[in-house]
Amino acid sequence: MHTRTTNNKWALITGASSGFGEEFARQYASQGHSLVLVARRKDKLESLAASLRTKHQIEVIVEGVDLSDLDSVKSLHQRVQERGISIDVLINNAGYGLQGGFQDGNLNDALSMVQLDIASLTAVTHLFASDMRAKGSGKILLVSSLLAHVGVESFAVYAAAKAYVLRLGEALHREMKQDGITVTTICPGLSDTGFAETARMQPSPLLKLLMMKPAPVVKAAIRALNAGRISVVPGLPNKFMALFIWASPRWLHQAVFARVMSPKTVSSIEGGKAQ
Ligand SMILES: NC(=O)c1ccc[n+]([C@@H]2O[C@H](COP(=O)([O-])OP(=O)(O)OC[C@H]3O[C@@H](n4cnc5c(N)ncnc54)[C@H](OP(=O)(O)O)[C@@H]3O)[C@@H](O)[C@H]2O)c1
Repeated sequence: MHTRTTNNKWALITGASSGFGEEFARQYASQGHSLVLVARRKDKLESLAASLRTKHQIEVIVEGVDLSDLDSVKSLHQRVQERGISIDVLINNAGYGLQGGFQDGNLNDALSMVQLDIASLTAVTHLFASDMRAKGSGKILLVSSLLAHVGVESFAVYAAAKAYVLRLGEALHREMKQDGITVTTICPGLSDTGFAETARMQPSPLLKLLMMKPAPVVKAAIRALNAGRISVVPGLPNKFMALFIWASPRWLHQAVFARVMSPKTVSSIEGGKAQ
């Protein structure tokens, strides 16, 4: 059994009940960080917390919160303050995408996604960054996407939301440096998490081949955050795609992405959001 005594640092991870968030929890726990785990599925968080406490002898606090409700985000922040916890690392990860034609989808579903991927991420960052600013240190990671770099048909709202996250992160990277806060944005490509199922995608064989596992994505994110980098694209194929987007005319990379991400949805996007 691997054990390590806490290093007296706290990481708050949103979307910790699966995928990247769960992997962030595992990797920070193995470094000795104590954790605040946030997501809606409290049962999943509780069982993750129990295994991490036993394995690493760290403190883990579970917060079952629907982050799409801004009052709940404020209450979460208040509860963390009331416990006397000072967050050293904020992993702003909770989010999801929906695949489908802009006009084929339900407006409320698109707006719910915007609420979580943009408004809640902004609120979480604002609230916890103000505490970091007061103590003069902290690290913040924003989880964007490779799709932030290109407007992709059938992922129009999600790609636009992730472009917001990337631009926010780039701006805050400079702005918050003077307060001792590092802000880094990660832009993963399609990875093997709950994302595809939630988005109701059926990835093509080519996409499945390119999919990364959560562990190397999270490792790249933590390395970039520790190095104080502005942003990172994890994995060679994704780096190549980012370079291709940068070097090619818009019509060309849009056409390639449309092909690669072809909307072979599991079911029609109509009739309700996935989560
Ligand atoms: N995997 C990819 O291909 C990929 C690529 C680029 C970017 N990303 C981004 O990576 C981030 C993590 O996603 P993932 O890939 O790890 O997918 P995932 O396995 O589906 O995880 C999404 C996480 O977000 C949480 N979440 C969703 N809605 C929430 C809400 N209203 N309140 C609180 N938590 C909520 C989910 O927990 P609950 O359901 O328990 O609330 C879950 O823990 C997202 O921002 C996603 O856009 C993913």
